[in-house]
Amino acid sequence: MSPSTPKHGTIEAVMAHLRTLDDLPLDGKRVLVRVDFNVYVGDDGKVDSTEDFRLTAAVQTIQELQQRRCKVLLITHLGRPKNAADGMDMAPIKRRLEQLLGEDVRTIGELYGPGVQSVVDGMEPGQVALLPNVRLDHREETGNLRFAHELAHNGDMFVNEAFSVVHRAHASVAFLPQEIPSCAGRRTVLEVEQLSRLIDNIKKPYVALIGGAKITTKIGMIHDLLGKVDTLCVGGQLANIFIAALGHYPHKKFAVDDIAAAQYILERGASKLLLPIDLVVGDEEGKNLEVVDVDSIPPDADGLYDIGPKSLELFLRRLKEAKTIMWNGPIGKFEVEAYAKSSRAVARELATMSAYRVVGGGNTVNMLEEEKVIGKYDHVSVGGGAMIAFLEGKTLPGLMPLYD
Ligand code: 3PG
Repeated sequence: MSPSTPKHGTIEAVMAHLRTLDDLPLDGKRVLVRVDFNVYVGDDGKVDSTEDFRLTAAVQTIQELQQRRCKVLLITHLGRPKNAADGMDMAPIKRRLEQLLGEDVRTIGELYGPGVQSVVDGMEPGQVALLPNVRLDHREETGNLRFAHELAHNGDMFVNEAFSVVHRAHASVAFLPQEIPSCAGRRTVLEVEQLSRLIDNIKKPYVALIGGAKITTKIGMIHDLLGKVDTLCVGGQLANIFIAALGHYPHKKFAVDDIAAAQYILERGASKLLLPIDLVVGDEEGKNLEVVDVDSIPPDADGLYDIGPKSLELFLRRLKEAKTIMWNGPIGKFEVEAYAKSSRAVARELATMSAYRVVGGGNTVNMLEEEKVIGKYDHVSVGGGAMIAFLEGKTLPGLMPLYD
């Protein structure tokens, strides 16, 4: 059985091989916990309760380690910083974490080295510390083994509580757990368990809805997903690529490789693909809005920022027929309120449906929190691209080292 491809075994068999907090002698140890606190920080400089899902998701594991008298060292990335000035401010995240844990969290100024070790030596059992944004070291994203080794010096054992990044072969995700004894955190275990239900014995019809802006990550995934779903509704920037590939919008707005991937998919799996038939065009600020049919988009339109009402109805009709639903990524440029209408409508409508519903993706989850419907879904995943990669049955570099 391939460890991160549960399609080859029952859920129980897969879970039996995943190491958890119960399998390691963690008590009293220095434990490195890879978390994903890559969350939206509001304009007010705060992470509020509609933005902290990924923090709350890690709290159970952190508190369990505290109870086991571990020194807990949290490693996270934040965004995709290009330089040191662009990604240092972890303060809003630290403050929110302190509120959630109800106690102080220490900050460590470096990622590795003797300075870190002396701070760790001075920590009390049960104390929590946050390291700097791990992507400030360029070796993180290249999966550098030396960097993984340097990070490993900070701790005795490793816990992955960052399911949302397990699709990345980054140093702290894929290689650090190979340096010291490692296991999955409680949330990571829950993700594997719940998402495995969308791999085998899926109740049909299975309808997926994918949107969002991380085009290059998701376009390749669509091809594989088409083999599993009955219908794949596509919205957001992702749909715009297909619309351009069909000749309704200028190609030059998108990367050549993405257009080529969309064309490839259209040639092979178009029958299951449901694309928007109308769109909201306007400017970036959400002004000068106009709803246009897909075949009459003005060539000089600034952007295609939301699906139109006819498309929303079409998507919802198909979703209502489903027995299993997976939703990942907003279907419009939701950060501008004028373009958030269809995503918000989907969030509310799906909340009332009786199908087994799984939803994921940072922005999508924020929207559920804002609409106060997060508790109405069967599973809300911390993962965006990671969730889709898991559902495709891909080998996930961050999960592999956590299996026996
Ligand atoms: C996410 O937001 O999906 C995760 O934090 C991964 O971020 P990345 O796409 O920048 O790797």
